[in-house]
Amino acid sequence: MPDLRWSAIGGDAEAWRSVVIDGSLNDVGMVSFSSQLTAEDAEAIRAYVVTQAHLAQERKAPD
Ligand code: HEM
Repeated sequence: MPDLRWSAIGGDAEAWRSVVIDGSLNDVGMVSFSSQLTAEDAEAIRAYVVTQAHLAQERKAPD
């Protein structure tokens, strides 16, 4: 499983939705979560993941 903080898909709301809701990576082991998550849930998780990426970057490279 990839660490989603460093996935380029995290920067693209449509691509994220196609993976998490529409199951576009079903064939490679990432099933659709549409029966568990709404599109709004998926977008909230994307925002969380992007925030975590930014926090991790700040920890690595403090001002
Ligand atoms: C048991 C839970 C999960 C499993 C086993 C799983 C598994 C995987 C796997 C194997 C991939 C790589 C597919 C490839 O080869 O390209 C993947 C990609 C991905 N997963 Fe999951 N996943 C899980 C849960 C989730 C959840 C909860 C989310 C978001 C709400 C998520 C979002 C993504 C995204 C966005 C990618 C694409 C990353 C990229 O290609 O850069 N996954 N997942």
